[in-house]
Amino acid sequence: MKIVSVTDNQEMSKKAAEIIRELVLRKPDAVLGLATGGTPEGTYQQLVKDHQENGTSYRSIRTVNLDEYAGIDPKDPNSYYAYMKQHFFDHVDLPDGQYFLPNGLDTSKEACMRYDALIDSLGGVDLQLLGIGRNGHIGFNEPGSSLTLGTHVVKLTESTRHANARYFGSIEDVPTEAVTMGIGTILKSRKILLIASGEEKADALGKLVLANRADSRFPASALTQHKNVIIIADEAALSQTK
Ligand code: F6R
Repeated sequence: MKIVSVTDNQEMSKKAAEIIRELVLRKPDAVLGLATGGTPEGTYQQLVKDHQENGTSYRSIRTVNLDEYAGIDPKDPNSYYAYMKQHFFDHVDLPDGQYFLPNGLDTSKEACMRYDALIDSLGGVDLQLLGIGRNGHIGFNEPGSSLTLGTHVVKLTESTRHANARYFGSIEDVPTEAVTMGIGTILKSRKILLIASGEEKADALGKLVLANRADSRFPASALTQHKNVIIIADEAALSQTK
């Protein structure tokens, strides 16, 4: 695991965007694995700015997102589909039909298997962008999740629902389940870029950086099993790694 320490959220976003941009320029038909949440917002902003100023093109890029809330229509403003449109897809030249998210309205086993098959049919993920939950979740693989699963339905923990209530207005409105790429899916990516910012991630980052084996009680520790992981985190997030 390579760890890059940066001063703040802005520097983290710039560095992460630079890595994604380099890949897009080097491999114009790359498959990007994308994340939602607060952490990558600045990264998407940087990518949009770069697209507008330098013309970096996403015409042949394909993207697959980590997760989607169960029971939420893509048209719902709180869906991750809506998030991706708002923060990224609507501002770059990525054609419709080249971005994919799990379907929150079809949580059947078949639909989950189809999502993994889709990723395989695209040639697999070249670069997977990840955030990290305070409890160490990646995607929505909560503590106790199997570390080998493909895409599946998960029950969200109360801590995750609380952390995400900021988008919904009230905790009651936060879905109780989500569809997520499993750790098995995530580990198949050729490269993983995990970004983290702020003191509230310090505990999780401390555990991740010190982890030397995969332990399902702390899902992000599965990243110790991957050969090409880069973590870009700010000083506050890295404050418990020493
Ligand atoms: C989002 C995702 C989650 C988030 C994590 C951190 O697609 O899969 O694992 O990365 O919950 O969220 P933020 O960035 O809002 O702190």
